[in-house]
Amino acid sequence: MGYKHTLLTFLLAAAPLAGAIAQNADAPAAAEPPVAAQAPAADAAAAPAAAVPATAAICAACHNMDGNSAVPDYPKLAGHHPEYLLKQLRDFKPVGDKPALRDNAIMFGMIAALSDEDMVELANYFAAQTPTIGEAKPETLELGKSIWQGGIPAKGVPACAGCHGANGSGMPVQYPRLSGQHPEYVVAQILAFQTGTRKNDLNGVMQDIAQRLTPAEMQAVANAIAGLH
Ligand code: HEC
Ligand code: HEC
Repeated sequence: MGYKHTLLTFLLAAAPLAGAIAQNADAPAAAEPPVAAQAPAADAAAAPAAAVPATAAICAACHNMDGNSAVPDYPKLAGHHPEYLLKQLRDFKPVGDKPALRDNAIMFGMIAALSDEDMVELANYFAAQTPTIGEAKPETLELGKSIWQGGIPAKGVPACAGCHGANGSGMPVQYPRLSGQHPEYVVAQILAFQTGTRKNDLNGVMQDIAQRLTPAEMQAVANAIAGLH
């Protein structure tokens, strides 16, 4: 599979890259409030190199070292709320003999060997990176923006902005940032909520909303999200 090759190539190059990023990453990393159970803030500030967890090199093969993945199937992690990222990492793990609340084979493989402490470190690290914004295509932008801002009242679809924030930066801690996310990934998640492969949303709100959207509406709102900030 293609990604294995990318992963290997990346791991070979990862050690010097991780070092280089460590030198640049201390300022944003220190500015974000860390998730509880992280080392005390004073320690983090005194040892900026520790802000890049060694395990981040694995993730970088798909999500990039700065959390802004270049591949549209892989979500951008940069600038998410750390609590949201940590929750996702935990949700990729099956509990008992039930499928994971967020059932994804690739990410299950990635987190299977990680400790909860590793996950806390990774969530804090990627949350502290600066997110990039994409560009919305003009064609369906009007429809997408109107769904974002006002929902589709006739079908009982609420405004996305009501939970994800007017500019898409989300609301801590349960409503994720969407601003600048890859449209392919956004559509894939709405479909996952619709089919129940993903059912880790509070009170099933996203599963309910996803049932009410047509593929064309999903595409349109995802396109608007790409350029939203
Ligand atoms: C081989 C590619 C690959 C690697 C390597 C990888 N991921 Fe992922 N990641 C994915 C894919 C694909 C998804 C989307 C999963 C889905 O559809 O539910 C994802 C989703 C995520 C999400 C959810 C993001 C969101 O917006 O909800 C988080 C968090 C995440 N990955 C963190 C990590 C971390 C941390 C690592 C390193 C330990 C890692 N990933 C390694 C491919 C990868
Ligand atoms: C009532 C609140 C609410 C509204 C309104 C809402 N969402 Fe969500 N959204 C959530 C919650 C809660 C989650 C899941 C958080 C989690 O996984 O813990 C979520 C997650 C998502 C995700 C996955 C994000 C990621 O990084 O994987 C997408 C995509 C999304 N919403 C799109 C939308 C769109 C598009 C709309 C408007 C049509 C919308 N949401 C309206 C609450 C809401």
